[in-house]
Amino acid sequence: MAEPRKLRMGMVGGGPGAFIGPVHRIAAELDGKCELVAGAFSQSPERSREAGASFGVDPARAYANYGEMIATERTRADGIDFVVIATPNHLHLPVAVAALEAGIPVMSDKPATATYDEALELESSVRKSGLPYGLTHTYAGYAMVREARSMCAAGKLGAIRKVAVEYFQGWLSRPVETTGHKQAEWRADPERSGPGGAIGDIGTHAFHLLEYISGLQVTAINATLRTVVAGRKLDDDCSAFVRLSNGAAGTLACSQVAAGELNEVRLRIYGETGSLEWRQQDPNRLIVKWLEGPEEIHHAAAPYLSADARAVARVPPGHPEGYLEAFAVLYREFAGALMAWKDGAVNPLPSTLPGIEAGVRGMRFIDRVIASSRSERWVEF
Ligand SMILES: NC(=O)c1ccc[n+]([C@@H]2O[C@H](COP(=O)([O-])OP(=O)(O)OC[C@H]3O[C@@H](n4cnc5c(N)ncnc54)[C@H](O)[C@@H]3O)[C@@H](O)[C@H]2O)c1
Repeated sequence: MAEPRKLRMGMVGGGPGAFIGPVHRIAAELDGKCELVAGAFSQSPERSREAGASFGVDPARAYANYGEMIATERTRADGIDFVVIATPNHLHLPVAVAALEAGIPVMSDKPATATYDEALELESSVRKSGLPYGLTHTYAGYAMVREARSMCAAGKLGAIRKVAVEYFQGWLSRPVETTGHKQAEWRADPERSGPGGAIGDIGTHAFHLLEYISGLQVTAINATLRTVVAGRKLDDDCSAFVRLSNGAAGTLACSQVAAGELNEVRLRIYGETGSLEWRQQDPNRLIVKWLEGPEEIHHAAAPYLSADARAVARVPPGHPEGYLEAFAVLYREFAGALMAWKDGAVNPLPSTLPGIEAGVRGMRFIDRVIASSRSERWVEF
């Protein structure tokens, strides 16, 4: 058995002013299973050192770049157990491959890479290494997403006939990428974001949620991409029809120019005898509607939920858990998988935790949406 201790993590990205880096740090440490000990937090060595100091990292382990971090940490007796990737998309592949080749597991933010070809390369690197690779599709960590998934898997709605998923934000309604806005700037740059704008940034989450909850796969897609804000280099709005592996149909829409929306992720699934509705801005409730029965509201942490949903609750019903806790569920599962792997388990990631397969499908989604929108036709997935 591996010694019981916190898993040591080395972070790439997440420097001063970053959005998701701090979320990773809080989430990783929430359940007491991981600790931040090293990082290359910024492309600027100076800012990386400053960031390391502010996070309480040993100055010798706040590195100038990720190459130095991986090369040094792999030789330390107390070296990092895994690398966290919280940089813009174009760095996801090189950092992940460098870590895997050094024998270090990876927890990456989405999208898995910048392009579909890169995702295939990463997939081969992950398979070759045999190392755990987790992908932080945040919404997979919510208790009521797990409940919706369990209900679909158990056939509680009957055969699924229709799926509707939306992810709407309004923060890119103006060309804020030209005003020095840190997060908008790289997202609107194809060199750093990849070929997908809104579809890569938030469409991949919507797509993942659709397949994750329904248990179905998208087999064909007919999408319209638009760039609503003049001068923007990538899409900021997408409307798509999808066909699913059981013959069902659905819609997937995402937009970052939906003025007034904050982070409106909403999913509805309709089966033969009932339906589900979940919204991330009201995450502790799942609305269940029956063809021949009253509408129900199911609450997170309630004793009547499925084992998968109950397993992720930390506090009793009525005590809300949210974004950080959902993110932390993914870290808790990743840490468990890593410990199992250290003890010799092969492919230790639980099916509830997104990994390389979800990463490749997400990148395929971007590729297919662009192909469909350009050709103005249905494309096979
Ligand atoms: N899971 C989610 O819900 C979620 C939410 C937001 C962002 N993301 C993803 O997280 C990633 C980062 O997004 P963000 O909004 O935090 O971006 P951000 O611009 O706020 O942060 C990026 C960080 O990476 C650092 N960085 C850039 N180049 C680097 C390099 N060469 N070496 C080390 N650090 C470097 C920057 O200095 C910055 O600290 C993206 O891939 C994004 O898609 C995921």
